[in-house]
Amino acid sequence: EKGGYDYFMLKEIAEQPKAVADTLLGRIDEAGNLTLDEVRISAAELREMDKIVIVACGTAFHAGLIAKYAIEHWTRIPCEVELASEFRYRDPILDAQTLVIAISQSGETMDTLMALRHAREQGSRVLAICNTNGSTIPRESDAVLYTHAGPEIAVASTKAFLTQLVACYLVALYLGQVRGTKWGDEVQAVIRDLSRISGAVERVLETMEPVRKLARSLADKNTVLFLGRHVGYPVALEGALKLKELAYMHAEGFAAGELKHGPIALIEEDLPVVVVVPSPRGRSVLHDKIVSNIQEIRARGARTIVIAEEGDEAVVPYADHLIRIPATPTLLQPLVATVPLQVFACELATARGNEVDQPRNLAKSVTVE
Ligand code: M6R
Repeated sequence: EKGGYDYFMLKEIAEQPKAVADTLLGRIDEAGNLTLDEVRISAAELREMDKIVIVACGTAFHAGLIAKYAIEHWTRIPCEVELASEFRYRDPILDAQTLVIAISQSGETMDTLMALRHAREQGSRVLAICNTNGSTIPRESDAVLYTHAGPEIAVASTKAFLTQLVACYLVALYLGQVRGTKWGDEVQAVIRDLSRISGAVERVLETMEPVRKLARSLADKNTVLFLGRHVGYPVALEGALKLKELAYMHAEGFAAGELKHGPIALIEEDLPVVVVVPSPRGRSVLHDKIVSNIQEIRARGARTIVIAEEGDEAVVPYADHLIRIPATPTLLQPLVATVPLQVFACELATARGNEVDQPRNLAKSVTVE
């Protein structure tokens, strides 16, 4: 049942190109328009929405953090992302013009369920992004967009995360489409880019041997830091979460711009720091800033593990280890940048003798608050 892999997690990492492609399947028509008929909230209603609130936990929350960048950029609707466990306890401002998006692989996470119940009580419409047919969260929502990742067995979420991102992008583009935001051509271009992403994930998977080797060499470390910016920031958080739950190591993700506001004090000789570098094309200002961050931490002795686009030469002098990912549009980079971090955490867990599919103290779905 593990399809020849030692762990479900490895199998699920390998299934990501297909999971991503399956989540797009049937949702784009021949003219390149999105047809999300299953989202049973009418175009007229969606045009009325003036705020989007995403609620989720853990890895699904990280997908939500990334989705915010895409939703606000493509729809110009303000979007908040909140941990489901915090949401209803702070009296959030919700009304009929608020679209709440609940993201959950299992569809059974109690924190997320309670958050969406609260939102519906306040009159908001809830759209679930979920991987499990007929589970509680989609049943209690107004509409659902299923991710087609297939069953995810390993406790650590991998393919569900990538498909949650794809689903969020589809929702963002769909909202842009029904609201007729300025950029008709851009929607089409992004849809084309999205349909190429599965191949890019495949290419990343083919180049993971050096990442495994690197992970094994770090098995006796206590701490690993992760830095990112823009959509790379939630990717850093996700890399750190994977490492905590699988390798039981102290791991933290930071927004690279925050380094000088505190975390840089943590940098010491030989500390592994993983840096997710934004594309040098597009928002090149961010790229240049992160390259100076890498320089700064390396000057203080950190061991820099740099995830950068193919062809990005500026990072080469400062990378102790360089992990290449295919060039993608900025907003889609998390789909390729997360994969090496999954492999990294999985291999470190194995090297430390941990149970990969069933990490200690954790359950696949958390059905208590
Ligand atoms: O089933 P859900 O997506 O609602 O689960 C949310 C989190 O419990 C889950 O993502 C958790 O953080 C994973 N174990 C992370 O790998």
